[in-house]
Amino acid sequence: MVSAKYKIGILTSGMSRGSNLEAMANYFIINQKPVQISFAIVTKKNAPVREKCMKYHINDIFISTKDLQLFEDKLIKVCHENSIDILVLSGFLKKLSPKFIKRVNIPVINIHPALLPKFGGLGMYGKNVHEKVFNFKEKKSGVTIHLVNENYDEGKIIAQSECDISDCKSADEIADKVLTLEHKVYPQTITRFLENLR
Ligand code: GRF
Repeated sequence: MVSAKYKIGILTSGMSRGSNLEAMANYFIINQKPVQISFAIVTKKNAPVREKCMKYHINDIFISTKDLQLFEDKLIKVCHENSIDILVLSGFLKKLSPKFIKRVNIPVINIHPALLPKFGGLGMYGKNVHEKVFNFKEKKSGVTIHLVNENYDEGKIIAQSECDISDCKSADEIADKVLTLEHKVYPQTITRFLENLR
């Protein structure tokens, strides 16, 4: 195993399947990238992503989001104790406060399953995004990886990648195509981003 030069933490939600976490873990291992997933935060004790954490021996930590202030305080502590370089969001749906972004003092990045600035903002997550893209009869969709700031999906864009969806007959078909792209682009972008940090 390659020794880790970079450490990341992953922030998921109670519903996260963990397919992006799995894609990252595989990518770092197969390509011998010096990136370690130090932990994954889960916000429900029975979150499906926990199975993936077990499979890849990733430390999964449950923190309740019932009290968001307390959640952020605990999350900051975990980030600092583990000396991670970046916090990676994967399916986390709540808004992190500007105070959190300032206090955590490391880049926080997110993946959005569409081509921002279109199809982003409050309520635009998961199937909602793909249904809107389908209803707007878009010919292409894709993924956007961006820094997290105080507004939903408005932080600086780090990377974007497109896919042709002109043959897609439903929002589900678009979702499948975009997810495949996420699995390819997110691990690569995270690695490149880390390499550019120092
Ligand atoms: C992904 O579709 C991503 O775009 C969004 O949350 C979903 C997480 O899926 N931000 P998974 O848990 O990685 O399968």
